[in-house]
Amino acid sequence: MKILVTGGAGYIGSHTCIELLNENYDVVVLDNLSNSSEESLKRVKSITGKHLEFYKADLLDKEQVTAIFLNHKIDAVIHFAGLKAVGESVTIPLKYFHNNITGTLNLLEVMNDFNVKNIVFSSSATVYGDPSSLPIKENFPLSATNPYGRTKLMIEEILQDIYRSDKNWNIALLRYFNPVGAHESGKIGEDPFGIPNNLVPYISQVAVGVLPRVSVYGDDYDTPDGTGVRDYIHVVDLALGHIKTLPKLFTSPGVVIYNLGTGFGYSVLEMIKGFEAASDKKIPYKVCERRPGDIAACWADPVKAKEELFWEADKTLIDMCRDTWKWQKNNPNGYRES
Ligand code: NAD
Ligand code: UD1
Repeated sequence: MKILVTGGAGYIGSHTCIELLNENYDVVVLDNLSNSSEESLKRVKSITGKHLEFYKADLLDKEQVTAIFLNHKIDAVIHFAGLKAVGESVTIPLKYFHNNITGTLNLLEVMNDFNVKNIVFSSSATVYGDPSSLPIKENFPLSATNPYGRTKLMIEEILQDIYRSDKNWNIALLRYFNPVGAHESGKIGEDPFGIPNNLVPYISQVAVGVLPRVSVYGDDYDTPDGTGVRDYIHVVDLALGHIKTLPKLFTSPGVVIYNLGTGFGYSVLEMIKGFEAASDKKIPYKVCERRPGDIAACWADPVKAKEELFWEADKTLIDMCRDTWKWQKNNPNGYRES
C-alpha cells in the first residue's frame, strides 16, 4: 500500500511517516518546506531504517502534484499540508484561503483524475468554536472564529460535497485537539519558526533558556485554577490514530469523522508544573490578560474513535512533557544547526 503524505516534513506529518513506515506502508511525501525542513525526513529515515520518497513540491502547483501521481500508484492520501497559525490567518486571510483551500482543490482534482479517492484530512477542534458543553462529541454544532478555522470548516464541507457527488470517495475527517510532545528518540519534534504561539513549545523554549518567562493568558476563567483547560494529546498517539484510520478507510465507509483527543483536560498551570517536573527546571511565568478569541475549556469525547477505529491515546502528561523536553534539550535550535 502506498500512501502520499502531504505536509509530511512538518510536525505531525513527520511523526506519522514514522508510524507508516513501521507498519510497512510505502510512503511518498509532498512538502514545499514552507514551515519545515527536509532534515526531519532524514531523521525519520534514520529512526526507522527505512526509505521514503520525498518531493519538494507545492500543492499550489498542479503540475508538480500531477507529476507525483504519474510516478506513483497511490492508494490513499493523508493530507496535512496547510498553514496553521491562527493569529497570522487573521492578518493575511487571503494567503490562508489560497494556500489551504486552493491547495486542497488542486490535490482533490489530481486525485480525481487518477481515480485515487481515499483521503484522510487534518481537521481541528477549532471547528467546534466555543462549545456549549463538554466533552465535545463529533455531532456538536460547528463554527469558525478566524480564517484558519474557516479553512478547516470549508475543506470539511468541500469533502462532504464531493462524496455526495461521487460515492466512490472515502473520506476521514480527523479533528485533532492539542498535539504536543515529540518522538521518544528526541530526534524529531515541533520546530516552530520564530516565537511560538502555542503553549507547550513556548514553555519548552523558556525551560531551555531561549525565552525568559511564560505569559499565562488569564487566570479568571471558570476552570478549577482559573487558567485555560485543553485536551493535550501526544503527537505519537495522534500519528497512531492515522494508522488506525487507514484500515477503516479501506472498508469504503464514505465520510467518517473522529475526534482525536484524550478525553482529559489540563490547565495552563498544570502544564507548567508537568514541564517543571519533566525538565527539573523552574519555569518562570506571569499572569497576563486573556488572549482574544480564547475559550475557557475544551476537551474531546474520544469514544467514537475508540469504538470504530480501535484507537485511544495512552500517553500521559508526563510522557508529553518528558518527550518535548528531550527534543528541545537535544535540539535547542530545532532542525537548524546553530
Ligand atoms: P506543520 O506546519 O508542521 O506542517 C504542515 C506542513 O505543510 C509543513 O511542512 C509545510 O511546509 C507544508 N505545507 C504548507 N503549505 C503547503 C503547500 N501549499 N504545499 C506543500 N506543502 C505545504 O503543521 P502540523 O502541526 O504538522 O499540522 C499538520 C496539519 O494538522 C495542518 O493541516 C494543521 O492545520 C492541522 N492541525 C494542526 C494542529 C496543531 O496544533 N499542530 C491542530 C489541529 C490541526
Ligand atoms: C490553538 C489555536 C487553535 C488550534 C489549536 C491546536 C489560537 C487562538 N487557537 O488553540 O485554533 O486548533 O491551537 O493547535 O491560537 N496559553 C498561555 N500562554 C501562551 C500560549 C497559550 O497561557 O503563551 C494558553 C491559552 O490561553 C490556552 C492554552 O494555553 O488556554 C493553550 O493554548 P494554545 O497552545 O495556543 O492552543 P489553543 O488556544 O487551544
